[in-house]
Amino acid sequence: MPGSVVRLAALADLHCTKTSQGAFQALFGKISEVADLLLLPGDLTDYGLPEEAAVLAKELTALRIPAAAVLGNHDFESDKSAEVTQILTAAGLIVLDGDSCEIQGIGIAGVKGFGGGFGRRALGPWGEKSIKLFVREAVDEALKLEAALARLRTKQIVALLHYAPVQQTVDGEPLEIYPFLGSSRLEEPIGRYPVSLVLHGHAHRGQLEGKTQRDVPVYNVSMPLLTRTFADRLPFRVFELPAGAAETPSAHSTGPVLSPSRGRRASDAIAS
Ligand SMILES: [Fe+2]
Ligand SMILES: [Fe+2]
Repeated sequence: MPGSVVRLAALADLHCTKTSQGAFQALFGKISEVADLLLLPGDLTDYGLPEEAAVLAKELTALRIPAAAVLGNHDFESDKSAEVTQILTAAGLIVLDGDSCEIQGIGIAGVKGFGGGFGRRALGPWGEKSIKLFVREAVDEALKLEAALARLRTKQIVALLHYAPVQQTVDGEPLEIYPFLGSSRLEEPIGRYPVSLVLHGHAHRGQLEGKTQRDVPVYNVSMPLLTRTFADRLPFRVFELPAGAAETPSAHSTGPVLSPSRGRRASDAIAS
């Protein structure tokens, strides 16, 4: 490991389509130059189609560092998430779903997550069966995250989610859709393990940074958000984690100053 830090690049919400050939290769090439690993917090594809995953797999040939991901809600749209996962895994991507991996000495616990809202306004399992099923999904995802975190023994742990675990990083979205952007239930397991940082996407119009009640930093790395916020930079962030050290990282940086990759759409937040 060169130096004493591991450089972790992250971006979510690629929304790769069947016509995205060439859209990400320069980006992945640049990320490979400035980071040691890449994490992709979901919405890798736009409609969850194997054809879209195949396009992304080809784009990923430009990536020369290890990468891990979780799927997002868009990756489930066509009910072919298993095929999507298979294609991306064959391309070298580690796709996590309630499990964990270790890259460059960094432990990564990954789960898609789910909605339900935040804090005292969170949806509870009361009333109709469909409401209880909705809440059950969020509870199950939180349990999966807990199980993934429990398996890790690394000093640095990253929680990789698609949905937000805190409200702060979805602020800026329409209030009416907050319950569909994340769930406080995901924050609970994060507070029980020594998590260094949390990455998520999904809230295209949210805020860059927040923190859990226990001060674990939470970063929304949604590509449309990064593109809007850092107009003079490529849309990804790089976080520096101490290599093998126990302390929580404080340093982080954004991508290098370069012409941003244009042409990405910031889709309506309800479909984010
Ligand atoms: Fe999403
Ligand atoms: Fe998205």
